[in-house]
Amino acid sequence: MNKKSSLLFLAAILLFDILLAVVFIYQLTQLSGFPSSVQTGDSARPGVPARIAESSRSVPAAWEEPLTQPVYIAEPKMIALTFDDGPDATYTPALLDGLKARNIKATFFLIGASIPGNEDILRRMAEEGHLIGVHCLHHKDLTQEEIAEANRQLEETKKLITEAVGQTPTYMRPPFGRWNETLRDHISMEPVFWTVDSLDWKLQNTQKIVKKVLDNTKNGDVILMHDEFATSVEAAFQIIDNLSANGYTFVTVDELSID
Ligand code: NI
Repeated sequence: MNKKSSLLFLAAILLFDILLAVVFIYQLTQLSGFPSSVQTGDSARPGVPARIAESSRSVPAAWEEPLTQPVYIAEPKMIALTFDDGPDATYTPALLDGLKARNIKATFFLIGASIPGNEDILRRMAEEGHLIGVHCLHHKDLTQEEIAEANRQLEETKKLITEAVGQTPTYMRPPFGRWNETLRDHISMEPVFWTVDSLDWKLQNTQKIVKKVLDNTKNGDVILMHDEFATSVEAAFQIIDNLSANGYTFVTVDELSID
């Protein structure tokens, strides 16, 4: 090989290396997404590589701009109306009429001794979607009774209800709200207490009962009333109409999650 051909050979190698270097640098800029004059950048997104801008166009528009306003979903406000000490031959049917007219379901905790002769009222409660529970046979403070007697008070009431409506109650309300560990350990029924006491038996004044309940009621409350006074029945209707207008729905206690 003479001197001239050696120089030509070196020049060819040099040119080939330069070409390789150019190709290598070009590929490097493609991989890193670094803006390059080869790419056509998105004019609306300065500095954003065309390839990335291109790929984001296939993603739904909602993902491109995060939501700045949180979306609030209205929470359903639920109340359970409970009526103790019935059935009452006069006031319970009057209450059932008003509940039916308003399409409201309630829970009744019954006195066993008041059931004979009023079985049709119980059947109506069941047919119209209300929940029937046990109060007591004779409205006794169960914490003051032997456990056998406490059980008898509940079981006999349970039996009277089952015979009347064909369904066995599982919920009970302790008379006076009186409960203890012995009862908890020996009574198989589920005790249901209350969070709002209407004091209707004591007030016996419709407006005072309504105010007492509305001033104290919030979402998830269990309201205690008694279907044995005209003032209680009328107050119940006003409470329902007011709370319904304020977005509350009325459920039976088994539909309300109780802590
Ligand atoms: Ni009672």
